[in-house]
Amino acid sequence: MKEITRTPIVILNFKTYLESTGEKALNLAKISQEVAEETGVNIAVAPQHADLLRISGQMSIPVLAQHVDAVDAGGHTGSVLLESVKEAGASGTLINHSEKRMKLADIQQVVKKATEQEMISVLCTNNIETSAAAATLQPTFVAIEPPELIGSGIPVSKAEPEIVEGTVDIMHQINPDVKVLCGAGISTGEDMKAALDLGSEGVLLASGIVLAEDPKKALLDLVSKI
Ligand code: G3P
Repeated sequence: MKEITRTPIVILNFKTYLESTGEKALNLAKISQEVAEETGVNIAVAPQHADLLRISGQMSIPVLAQHVDAVDAGGHTGSVLLESVKEAGASGTLINHSEKRMKLADIQQVVKKATEQEMISVLCTNNIETSAAAATLQPTFVAIEPPELIGSGIPVSKAEPEIVEGTVDIMHQINPDVKVLCGAGISTGEDMKAALDLGSEGVLLASGIVLAEDPKKALLDLVSKI
């Protein structure tokens, strides 16, 4: 678990872009692994569930699910069981992403189960208050992402630095073991450096890399100032 959670960390969320689906997801994961190997930066990828096994079977970098449901084994048609993504090679999962919001009780159940299964939990929050609540659930990471900046190309580390600093501060007060990441609009090495300078230990990003003309060039720039 230690190596997988090494910081600074970059978590590349593939979302459901066609550019990061199926064979293209595998190609993007291979690019991510090349950059991780060339630079020594810890880079994890979060593909769609259907692409987890395709990718995890060929990668040494951490592969995360984008979501799992708060269900145990049994009759839950259409749900995503934590054990299934673990068997598909995932080392952990995003939880409560702004594009897949969950109820508090379900968040707590998934974080607890991920910990019991020795999997990484990246709990997504939208402001300092929800980050404070997240701290008490003891995830591996809290990822602060103001929804209004997601996909905007306007980096949170520049547009709302106080929300990153405030989350780092509240995490140090409530649960210093929880590492803080930030996301939304992050795309360049400047953005990543600003995020680290604000006290976060890494970034969660998507469009700046997935939709880039040259994803490898974009990823190399992203980690160039670490
Ligand atoms: O999970 C990270 C994502 O929500 C950020 O999106 O496109 O602004 O990097 P993007």
